[in-house]
Amino acid sequence: MHIQANYSLLPHNTFKVDVKTQYYVEINRQSDILILRTDMKLASLPWKIIGDGSNLLFTQDIEGVTIRCTFKQIKIVKEDQDEVWISVGAGVEWHDLVKYSIDNGWWGLENLALIPGTVGAAPVQNIGAYGSEARDCITRVQTLNIYDGQRTEFRNSECNFGYRTSIFKQEYVNKLLVHRVTFRLRKAHAGQANLVYAPLKESLQDTPSKTLTPKIVFDAVIALREDKVPDPQRQGNAGSFFKNPVVDPEYLEELQSRYPDIPNHRMLDGNFKIPAAWLIEQTDWKGKSHGHAGVSMQHALVLVNLGNATGSEIEELSQMVKADVNHKFGIYLEPEVIIL
Ligand code: EPU
Repeated sequence: MHIQANYSLLPHNTFKVDVKTQYYVEINRQSDILILRTDMKLASLPWKIIGDGSNLLFTQDIEGVTIRCTFKQIKIVKEDQDEVWISVGAGVEWHDLVKYSIDNGWWGLENLALIPGTVGAAPVQNIGAYGSEARDCITRVQTLNIYDGQRTEFRNSECNFGYRTSIFKQEYVNKLLVHRVTFRLRKAHAGQANLVYAPLKESLQDTPSKTLTPKIVFDAVIALREDKVPDPQRQGNAGSFFKNPVVDPEYLEELQSRYPDIPNHRMLDGNFKIPAAWLIEQTDWKGKSHGHAGVSMQHALVLVNLGNATGSEIEELSQMVKADVNHKFGIYLEPEVIIL
């Protein structure tokens, strides 16, 4: 284990913001935590857990110890005629796991292709796209307590998964490090495509549904995503910056009387989700900037680093966008990104 002092987190956040952490350590196994805790100085400081920083916005230097899990093992733990259970180290790149599952012809993760970040972050944030969420395939999450190294296993029902959230983002944030995640996937003959997201269904309408494979859906998702979300390698960003807000039917009606074209999506509980991207576009922020931070030309829900932006500039921009949406629509946008 290598403890690095005054370490730049530039390679560890997709917004490409340059901040420093007092100490940085990569954790691979349970004993790493126990060893670190014997260091009185490190033990007395606050610890923060990061993944690939694809959902973080750093607005200042980080005091204390920043830890990152680099455990990368993938193994099949159980298998039957129709399904396979794989246990995956938190340090594996999410998209590499998706590719691995596709190469094996397994169904389950294909709609979640190209989401930046690590496997460890997937349950924390309950990542989602194109009608799928990580929770649909996760059966267990194994964590290490960062104070005493203790191992705990959570079943899916114990993770309190919600829209871009879980128990690991709420009560256990910076207490439990996700170490491995078990996924249940369906074998080629036993699964089927999830095409609830209309643009995905449309893009595959010429392929007879019987001939669809995980790989075909995976390729279609990649094509859709590349169209919409700017590549963080080229322009720093963290995907959707805000969550899509939810309003009750009465409020939707009121909005519809003023904005008859307002897009909306009915949820199971009878409330309605409104695309934050549409709200932002109506405030004229799309393609505009503040300092070195901008609202993507490609997708209004994505804030981007136009080059050498500070985290504070990006945060200020988010506050301005939020204020204008609130002023125009009476809707309070909540960040999906974690601001530190
Ligand atoms: N729209 C605009 N202007 C834009 C872009 C979109 O008005 O610039 C409107 C359109 O009406 C469009 C609607 O917004 O129909 C919804 O947009 P889109 O289908 O692109 O999806 P989204 O709601 O913006 C969500 C997730 C994404 C996920 C996509 C696809 C959230 C906050 N975001 O975005 O997740 O990839 O659906 O499923 O739920 C992420 O979390 O980082 C992320 C990228």
